[in-house]
Amino acid sequence: MNDFDSDMAAGLLKKEGHEIVQDDDSADVILFNTCSVRQHAEDRVLGQLAELKGEKKKRPDLVIGVMGCMVENYKTKFFADYPHVDILIGTRSIPELPKAIETVRTERRQVLELAKTGFGYELLEMPRLEGKFHAYLPIMTGCDKVCSFCIVPYVRGREISRPLREVADEVRRLAEIGVKHVTLLGQNVNSYGKTVASGESVSADFATLLRAVSKVPGIEKIGFTTSHPEDASEELFQAIRDEDKISRRFHLPLQSGSDFILERMKRDHTLAEYRKKIDRMRELIPDIAVTTDIIVGFPGETDADYEATKKALADIQFDGAFIFKYSPRPHTAAARWEDSMPMDEKNRRNNELLNLQKEITKRKNQTWLGRTVKVMVEDMSKKSREEVLARTWQEKKVVFKGSGTLIGSSLRVRLEQVFDETYRAEVVSIPPPPRADHSGRPAKTGASSSSERAGTKEFQPE
Ligand code: 5AD
Ligand code: SF4
Repeated sequence: MNDFDSDMAAGLLKKEGHEIVQDDDSADVILFNTCSVRQHAEDRVLGQLAELKGEKKKRPDLVIGVMGCMVENYKTKFFADYPHVDILIGTRSIPELPKAIETVRTERRQVLELAKTGFGYELLEMPRLEGKFHAYLPIMTGCDKVCSFCIVPYVRGREISRPLREVADEVRRLAEIGVKHVTLLGQNVNSYGKTVASGESVSADFATLLRAVSKVPGIEKIGFTTSHPEDASEELFQAIRDEDKISRRFHLPLQSGSDFILERMKRDHTLAEYRKKIDRMRELIPDIAVTTDIIVGFPGETDADYEATKKALADIQFDGAFIFKYSPRPHTAAARWEDSMPMDEKNRRNNELLNLQKEITKRKNQTWLGRTVKVMVEDMSKKSREEVLARTWQEKKVVFKGSGTLIGSSLRVRLEQVFDETYRAEVVSIPPPPRADHSGRPAKTGASSSSERAGTKEFQPE
């Protein structure tokens, strides 16, 4: 979601004639897109903002802006603590960014934009995606759940979905400009359609949306993130089973293997209910790769609770897991509970689970060796100019011999070896040479540099 927001901000600014540069020295405007999920991410931004104080003294015309969740979290307190910040843009106000920069420059005043209603992405222009094969596409935003550790409902607001027709139109437009792979985004995409934006009466669930997007010609791969166990439905699993464009990686946060902790986390499910979903998903879609998020050191987590989480990881055998140390967040219920576990112990639990999962991932990855699978080529390999980097439908990384002309195409490869979670493969079938696509224009096969490519990230979290 944050990558999408950064992309959108860059696109809007480019459209206004701004140029995107990566170094602070040559920039007239420095923007921070921020995340509030854990304290660590906030601390890094605050540190960098403090460092810019001197720069702003030297260059008073420098415009400094902060976007995203931290703005919703701190609001005007930001201006009080960091008076050299000029612009604060909340999570649903990114389209206001170009105007805000203009206002600072012409009126020399600070600008705060917070919008708690609406989607914030309407009328999105997409020139920034020309020549790219992958696009993020938000289908809903906000979250109506109240997980007791999570700041998201406070900084992203109430849940709201974009109408199905609007999403389908946007996917068609993306396909027309050459996009082949879309990643549907939302805090809880599984509850898509429960609260629809702009008064639209058509209500559809996420399974229906996935089936509709699968029908769009030109789109070859569809990913989505992130899911919630309570809303991950039988219909959704059936849609994935039936539509082979849909990615076979399902990220389903478990958070803890202890029912006592799950209850305190207000996750609305037990471990047994979670397992039932995974078992059913694996039954219907045998080639599905399941990944998860785990929090260690949640207030009240005893040794026995932690052992239950360890056992759940060993039993469920995820393909991958993010392990987080609990971090108390303002506004949340858990922040009022005692967070008494020493950091050393949180670190120990974190490392132990990381090591356990690493072994499981390694074993699972080996079971794929010798198989022929479909992959989509995403980039050149970082290590060799003669190799390309692709991902399987399970979102596992694969390298093999090939040139930049393959970027964005799907082909079949045989997985020969695996090192550090990356496979080495042999090509089995090469895609046909470039030809006119459904839009009547030549198919795009040119290499795109990794900086302009909106590539998928490892297990993108909520
Ligand atoms: N502390 C630690 N991890 C958290 N997450 C969300 N809030 C917190 C917190 N307060 C983790 C959850 C979620 C992922 C995106 O971040 O595991 O699924
Ligand atoms: Fe919503 Fe996910 Fe946060 Fe729970 S963890 S409140 S489902 S965003």
